[in-house]
Amino acid sequence: MIFNLHSIAVFIAATASLTSSVNAAPQAANAALARVVRSCTRDKVAALTFDDGPFDYTNDAIEILDDAGAKGTFFVNGNNWGCIYNQDRVDIMKNAYNKGHQIGSHTWSHANLTSLSRNQIVSEMTRSHVAIERITGASPAFMRPPYGNYNSLVQEVAASLGETVAMWDLDSGDTTNKDVVYQMEQYDDAVNRKAKNVLSLQHDIKSESIYIVLPYAIRKLQAAGYRLVTLAECLGEQPYSKIGSPQQRTADWHC
Ligand SMILES: *[C@@H]1O[C@H](CO)[C@@H](O)[C@H](O)[C@H]1NC(C)=O
Ligand SMILES: [Zn+2]
Repeated sequence: MIFNLHSIAVFIAATASLTSSVNAAPQAANAALARVVRSCTRDKVAALTFDDGPFDYTNDAIEILDDAGAKGTFFVNGNNWGCIYNQDRVDIMKNAYNKGHQIGSHTWSHANLTSLSRNQIVSEMTRSHVAIERITGASPAFMRPPYGNYNSLVQEVAASLGETVAMWDLDSGDTTNKDVVYQMEQYDDAVNRKAKNVLSLQHDIKSESIYIVLPYAIRKLQAAGYRLVTLAECLGEQPYSKIGSPQQRTADWHC
């Protein structure tokens, strides 16, 4: 992760110009910052998380998880590998949500948040948050920053949206195109070192991740006695800050 000290300095300077310099620093420092989680807290649970969808393989990932009595967590983009408001993507989102998998935000366009202005960060994080609310009726309580890059501005915006920042402690390596043997070994390692719990990172835009590594990880982890649960459940927390009804499509549902 990268803490962008330059942005913070610019923010503090901007604040200072509006108030007295004596008050400026404490005011910036006191802004509510979202918590960052890197691991589960409960014993013998594994949270498998999938970034960058909804995509063509997501429904199959859901079916593979369901068949194994497992739950997964999907950090979705608004407009990355397709528009989240396209009806086929809306249907995938509803399928995941209705079957009890967790949906979190992965921002609107998968930008590198630490290189953006405050207003751009607000836009990136709010648009995907709102899209999830419109489609599922639920307000996501977790977000994952693209590339795992965040700074205090990201944490501030996350806090304002009621989101916790979610990292991981097991990277399958699929996003850096590690071969499937390497990816499966990451789960072997967790089991072999008797990890207390697992919070893994995969991508549902990679076919091997879903059709080869996911079934392997499920078998391996379940055989070793891990329960496969959502990120929220592995922390003993709620997946959503608010739950309402799905909304009807309007003209605002566009990318
Ligand atoms: C994201 O932006 C930061 C700050 O500009 C930079 O240091 C980092 O390398 C970027 N990361 C990616 C993945 O582009
Ligand atoms: Zn991503």
